[in-house]
Amino acid sequence: MELKISNNTIIKPFSVGWDPADGIMDDPDNHIERCLSKLTDMFIDPGAAEAYLKEKGDVLLYEVYEKAIPQRDGEIQFCSSITHPGRIGEEYFMTKGHFHARRDTAELYYCLRGRGYMLMEKEDGEYELGEMYPGRSVYVPAFYAHRSINTGDEPLISLAVYPGDAGHDYGSIETSGFKHVVVERNGKPVAIENPRYGKME
Ligand SMILES: [Fe+2]
Repeated sequence: MELKISNNTIIKPFSVGWDPADGIMDDPDNHIERCLSKLTDMFIDPGAAEAYLKEKGDVLLYEVYEKAIPQRDGEIQFCSSITHPGRIGEEYFMTKGHFHARRDTAELYYCLRGRGYMLMEKEDGEYELGEMYPGRSVYVPAFYAHRSINTGDEPLISLAVYPGDAGHDYGSIETSGFKHVVVERNGKPVAIENPRYGKME
């Protein structure tokens, strides 16, 4: 769900409190919550996701807090991104991930808590994993889809900053997925080819 605000809105200078321990923003204009029931098809083993859902309930996978900023050139969007810890089978909890609607726009993440990776992948499948831990920044270049993956046992919390008019495009991720996924093998996170790539629905 995209937060809509008129592009003609005049923004006055403001400041906002944002707690690095839990990622909760004071007085946010939008709080997105994504639960497992809406994302079972995003995992490489949807059957395991359904079983997890039955056993443990509709757990929260990730949250975003943001302020309303006009989606126009020259502005800066920012949000707190919270990916909760857990696994479906061998696959870690993660965000759905997205391309930017304006593909030629980058994004910077600054991690404040937790441990994990930013999976960054171009349409041709070229990919990188950016390590995330407190004090570490990951630069997501233009044209890369990106997804946060929590490989630790506490929330993975980052501040994300990106151009005002970048927008979000979830379409190809929802239908095809990422070409690569991060799973736990022998106690360690590894990237593997997504066995369900191109047939996520
Ligand atoms: Fe983004």
